[in-house]
Amino acid sequence: MKLLVTGGAGFIGSAFVRMTILETDWRVVNFDKLTYAGNLENLLQVEDCDRYRFLHADICDERAVEAALAEERPDAIVHFAAESHVDRSILSPEPVIHTNFRGSFTLLEAARRRGIGRFLHVSTDEVYGSLAAPLEATEDFPLNASSPYSASKAASDLLARSYFTTYGLPVVITRASNNYGPYQFPEKLIPLMIANAFEDRPLPVYGDGMQVRDWLYVEDHCRGILAALEKGRDGEIYNIGGNRSLPNMEVVRRVLAATGKPKSLIQFVTDRPGHDRRYALSSEKLMRDAGWGPLMDFETGLTQTIDWYRANASWVARVRSGAYREYYERNYGQRAVQG
Ligand code: NAD
Ligand code: DAU
Repeated sequence: MKLLVTGGAGFIGSAFVRMTILETDWRVVNFDKLTYAGNLENLLQVEDCDRYRFLHADICDERAVEAALAEERPDAIVHFAAESHVDRSILSPEPVIHTNFRGSFTLLEAARRRGIGRFLHVSTDEVYGSLAAPLEATEDFPLNASSPYSASKAASDLLARSYFTTYGLPVVITRASNNYGPYQFPEKLIPLMIANAFEDRPLPVYGDGMQVRDWLYVEDHCRGILAALEKGRDGEIYNIGGNRSLPNMEVVRRVLAATGKPKSLIQFVTDRPGHDRRYALSSEKLMRDAGWGPLMDFETGLTQTIDWYRANASWVARVRSGAYREYYERNYGQRAVQG
């Protein structure tokens, strides 16, 4: 089996590449533009393996995509590459729409022309929008995106589905909940709170902090993608949830408790515009069709994640230098402290 993985230098993509190289005998070609979120340090464990190849390229570049498919002739494409952060999509929507929609289109077209055997499109629970308790989205729920990021993902999901319906391209779509774990860029809630807590800096909580997210350990997500890749049915969508819903404040309190830092570090700040209140997923379909279920409990996963960030302070320092500081100032500098 030979895979072309897009976005394999990012948080989830790199976990997927490491897992696939270390646990199978498959060949993996990692096709990544190396944006601010792409980091080859995430792949040191596998970079010398002769079944692994890195291609520095942009999914919006038709010729680069064509050339990679012609040369490598992959059996399947696993498509992670995206602009993945909601706050950045609110500050600057253009790159998000370009990569997430146009880039997905470029890949789908090339895959159709080449007759790729499987196209796994990695998507998100955000496409279902905010759900009132106790609703849990199943795969046939309506799309109700709130941010430019989630709208770009919903649009690319529809496009991917249309390539199955119209051209018979064997597309499978996965929609996962909030991932956490090692190597996550410290712009997302959990790594940002861990990194700030270590440095005794304020922990910026949006609005009242009672928004609910479902937490999925990154390796459980990767196993879900492998299960969908191998056992999923063409044209189907599979939710991948962690089965662990928590309000943000509870997550932040746990980070403070685990790092031994005081609650006084919590700082309530202006809410995210269009902030979805609650995401919740049912993953029964993937459990039924592929026997997948999340294995990591949140307490252990969070402890392991915090230990990883403690042991990898130099990784954090490197990714937080330069452009990160500008982003931090743009996103947080304008938010008033509440109460
Ligand atoms: P990330 O931001 O950590 O990594 C994105 C990767 O894509 C980076 O390596 C980046 O260099 C690469 N990339 C960006 N634009 C590119 C382009 N034009 N061409 C080639 N490569 C490009 O993202 P992540 O958190 O690992 O998310 C990966 C995928 O999973 C995304 O599609 C995201 O929508 C989806 N997802 C993420 C989560 C989550 O909680 N992080 C949950 C559900 C789904
Ligand atoms: O649900 C899946 C999605 O999860 C993925 O599709 C996205 O790629 C991923 O970024 C993530 O989106 P969220 O917006 O849910 O994740 P984020 O970590 O940015 O925020 C989680 C919650 O924490 C959300 O309610 C906003 C809040 N938050 C976030 C940050 C960064 C804060 O209160 N303060 C913060 O500083």
